[in-house]
Amino acid sequence: MNNNVFRNLSYGVYIVSCFDGDKFTGCTVNSIMQITSEPATIALSVNHSNYTNECLEKTKKFAISILSEKSNPMSIGTFGFRSGRDFFKFSNIPFLMKDNFPIIKDACGYLVGEIINKVETSTHTVFIAKITDGDILNNETPMTYSYYHNVVKGKSPKTAPTYIQE
Ligand SMILES: Cc1cc2nc3c(=O)[nH]c(=O)nc-3n(C[C@H](O)[C@H](O)[C@H](O)COP(=O)(O)O)c2cc1C
Repeated sequence: MNNNVFRNLSYGVYIVSCFDGDKFTGCTVNSIMQITSEPATIALSVNHSNYTNECLEKTKKFAISILSEKSNPMSIGTFGFRSGRDFFKFSNIPFLMKDNFPIIKDACGYLVGEIINKVETSTHTVFIAKITDGDILNNETPMTYSYYHNVVKGKSPKTAPTYIQE
């Protein structure tokens, strides 16, 4: 099989934020898709080894910051290449609060949701969540995963479901 064909699938770039009981944490994800509109439902794939997976299992609630082409790529790195287990990821990232969750300040939109179901795979949990709130924050163009790779020249770690060894 030609694994590069997976690069032709399209995604956005997002920051999931959640609460671990003591502090806010979260991680960068691309694997979000809308499943239904009524009720508004999404799916989100999170690696078993990510601290975010543990926190989502525990607290069930989260928010999603939808990054734009104008969003500072530093948040993608901070949330995508370090673990919230031993590090407070929001310390150097400007954020605003929506429904008691931190949202990346320069995101172009946000969603707030609650996990209602999940499917386990060998490496990732696919969380199914109902969306309880959301809004557009500005009119910038949402960042696509291919923009992140081709224009920002960003990489993805092994824990991303779309990881392809170079
Ligand atoms: C562009 C990009 C996309 C990513 N997509 C996902 C994803 O969809 N699911 C996932 O589990 N991890 C994904 N990751 C990896 C996590 O963000 C990374 O493993 C993070 O350090 C986990 O942090 P945590 O341990 O605090 O949860 C992605 C990383 C990047 C940079």
